[in-house]
Amino acid sequence: MRELEINVKGGSYKIIIQNDSLKEINRYVKEVYNNKNIYILTDDVVAPIYLDTIIKSLECDFDVDYVIIPHGEKSKSITTYIDVCNKLIDKNIKRNNLLIALGGGVIGDLCGFVAATLYRGIPYLSIPTSLLSQMDSSIGGKTGIDFYNRKNIIGAFKQPIRVIIDPLTLKTLDEREFNNGMGELIKHGAIGNKKLLDLLKTKPEIDENIIFESLSVKKRVVELDEFDLNERMTLNFGHTFGHAIELKYNYKHGEAVAIGMLMAIDMGIDLNITNKECYDTIKNILKIYNLPTKEYNYKDYLKDVLFDKKNIAGTINFIFLTELGSSKIVKLSEKELKEKYYECFN
Ligand code: GLY
Repeated sequence: MRELEINVKGGSYKIIIQNDSLKEINRYVKEVYNNKNIYILTDDVVAPIYLDTIIKSLECDFDVDYVIIPHGEKSKSITTYIDVCNKLIDKNIKRNNLLIALGGGVIGDLCGFVAATLYRGIPYLSIPTSLLSQMDSSIGGKTGIDFYNRKNIIGAFKQPIRVIIDPLTLKTLDEREFNNGMGELIKHGAIGNKKLLDLLKTKPEIDENIIFESLSVKKRVVELDEFDLNERMTLNFGHTFGHAIELKYNYKHGEAVAIGMLMAIDMGIDLNITNKECYDTIKNILKIYNLPTKEYNYKDYLKDVLFDKKNIAGTINFIFLTELGSSKIVKLSEKELKEKYYECFN
C-alpha cells in the first residue's frame, strides 16, 4: 500500500493506492466519514463491474444509494448535472451526506461539481477506475462540466475528502484505454520525474509504486499552486498542441497529449529551451505504449492554439521541457507569437 497526502487550502486529503482496496472500501471511508448515508454516482459501464462490490462493502456500515448515468463525455453536461441533482434531492440527500464518484474522468468531474454546488457544498470521495482519471482528474480538485461547446468551462475547485485507487481496476481496461492513461503518466515523468521515465522504458507493470511516483509529481505542483495560476500549469505539457489535434483527428485525450508533447518538444528545441535528446527519448517511450507518434508540424497549429476557444487568457502559457524530468512555463502573447512566427499567421 502507498499513501500520498495532498495539503492544500481547500482541504487536505489522502490518496490511498492499494490493490483490492475496492473490496474493503468501507474501511477507508469510515476513517474520513462518520454519518450514515452515502450516495454513489457512477455510469452504466462501470456500474456492472464494480457497484456491487462497493455496495457490499459499504453496507456493513452505511445506508447506500446510487445514481447511474450514461457513460461518455456527453454526460458532462448541464442537463445531466440537473438530472443528477434532481435524483439526489428526490432520494433525500442531506448536506452532511457523502457523495462518492465511482468511475473515470467524466464521473469524477461531474460528481465533484455536484458536490461543490449542491447545498453550497457536500463532501465527496473519489474512486477513479480508469488510468487516465487515476493519473489526473481525480486529484487536485478541478471539477466541472462542458458548456457552450467548450470543455470544462463551468466548474469549481472542490477537494475530495479522500481518493482511493485500486490498481487492479486497470486490469479491466482495454489496451487503448489503458494506453490513453499512459499518455498522462509519461507526461508526469517528462515534466518532473526522470527516474520514472527511465523505469517506463522497461514497460513495468503499472502498480502501486508507479502510480505513487507519478502522482507525486502532480502533488508537488498542486500544493505549490492549488488554483492553477503558476506551477500547476506545467501539467498542461502536451495539452496546448494536443487540444488542437484531439477533436480534429478524433484522438483520445492521452493520445493527443502524446503527440502534443512531441510538438511542444519540437518547438522548445527551436526556441533553444529544450535539450535535443528529449525528442527521441519521449518518442521511444510513447511507442512502447502504442501511443501515436505521428509527426505534426507545430507551426501549422500555432494559429489554432492562439484562436482556440479555450484560450480565455489571451496569452498562451507554453509548457516546455528544459531536459528530461524538468519543465518550464513560457508566456507568449499574441503579438510575440506573431512576431516570432510571422510566416504562420500570413
Ligand atoms: N489536469 C491538469 C490539472 O489538474 O491541473
